[in-house]
Amino acid sequence: MAVKPPLVPNAKPIVGHALGIFKDQLEFFSEAALTAPLSRLKIGWTDAYLIANHELLYHVLVNDAKKYDKGVQYERARALLGNGVLLAEGDFHFRQRRLMQPMFNKPSIDDYVDAMHRYSTAMVESWSGSGVVSLYPEFYRLATRVVIDTLFSTRMTDADVALVQSRMPVVISGMQKRGALPTKVFDALPTPEKRAFYTAIGELRALGDRLVEERLAADRETGAWADLIDVLLNVDDEVARRDNDRAQILNEFLTFLTAGSETTPSAMAWSCYLLARHPEIQEQVREEVAGLDLVAEGTAQALQRLPLLQAVVKESLRLYPPVWFLGRRTLAPTTLGGYALPTGSQVFYSVYTIQRDPAIYDDPDEFKPHRWLDGGKKYPRTAFLPFGAGVRNCIGEHFAWIETSITLLNVLQRYHLSLAPGQQVRPTTMGSLVPAGDLPMRLESVVKR
Ligand code: HEM
Repeated sequence: MAVKPPLVPNAKPIVGHALGIFKDQLEFFSEAALTAPLSRLKIGWTDAYLIANHELLYHVLVNDAKKYDKGVQYERARALLGNGVLLAEGDFHFRQRRLMQPMFNKPSIDDYVDAMHRYSTAMVESWSGSGVVSLYPEFYRLATRVVIDTLFSTRMTDADVALVQSRMPVVISGMQKRGALPTKVFDALPTPEKRAFYTAIGELRALGDRLVEERLAADRETGAWADLIDVLLNVDDEVARRDNDRAQILNEFLTFLTAGSETTPSAMAWSCYLLARHPEIQEQVREEVAGLDLVAEGTAQALQRLPLLQAVVKESLRLYPPVWFLGRRTLAPTTLGGYALPTGSQVFYSVYTIQRDPAIYDDPDEFKPHRWLDGGKKYPRTAFLPFGAGVRNCIGEHFAWIETSITLLNVLQRYHLSLAPGQQVRPTTMGSLVPAGDLPMRLESVVKR
């Protein structure tokens, strides 16, 4: 067995690869992945590992999942999310996830369709006569409201949503910058950035605390709500009841606020961007959705009648996976790809790179939604992982598909989308993979054409 995986080129003395990572993460990890299926990075003096092969990744996420925890990146989110289900580990994670799962199965999601449709219809109607609209912030506001209304029976005010929209990026960027610095060092530095980071966390937790308190006060008056808070409060199991005290309810609230608002808007925005770049495909999707009333038809059945729309979302999640870069950490000495990894090894992977692997996908950088119309039979299941895999896969996957589909349907039934001339859209990697510059889009009413 070889001793160590090959080192990614251009490690510098003392800092290793940290500067390259800091400069342009997307480019750095795309190039680094060319080194080998499993390669080695130097972060300062420490070795970390990069997985570039989909089968190895699947092995880590599914077959050997018990040998890893979530690792360093996630630790930095703890100041905001506490021990919510995204960061929980082991038995506690298992219990929380099992409790919540029914809220994300198909019958429950069908109950959320009304709210998704109502909010997205109001959004697209508010654009009427606007000409150019910045789509990403619109989708962000939509997703934030939808996740909190459907799962926590709470209507956020405009001011609440604006606070999330302005403070969440400060937290995310603080987490990512902390990624290049040991947490202890970051915490010891009296920088304005650190102050902004912890102030934003304090404000978001205070907002969550108030909204949860309002919801609990309403509960005392009116009783059952059949939402996530109800599920967590009304468990039969004594251990689970003890787990879900007031502090844990707040952690879960902030977890879903973050997970539900920082991801789906990206999927919506990239789908719109790609359709604007490919007007002929946009027209085909518009023909597919013309006249369809999702709510009247029952969403699950109606979406089956929209194979091209589904393929567009899938292809956009392949090209621009919102959660593009993640990691795991070994809990014990482990073998991966023929190499021995010691306990505590940090293993990273870029889903963005894996889903553009030319060994798997023909024209890997091209937008070709039609490749999925036969179910994508020729592509291995393990090479499409925007929602992760295994026990830690995305609990909100079906929620996100339905919300994205309903929103795109509402947009495309009303507007033709086109990019302003000369606009170059690049992904930025602050948190989710989102279009830099908020994606201003020229909208033209469909009926006027
Ligand atoms: C397109 C939209 C979304 C994408 C691409 C996405 C992606 C992901 C990924 C990759 C993970 C796994 C992380 C890991 O393996 O470390 C994850 C976990 C999670 N997601 Fe999503 N997500 C999306 C939307 C949502 C929505 C709408 C919700 C809530 C309504 C949600 C809630 C969660 C939660 C709670 C977890 C943690 C699950 C656990 O550890 O048991 N996500 N998501």
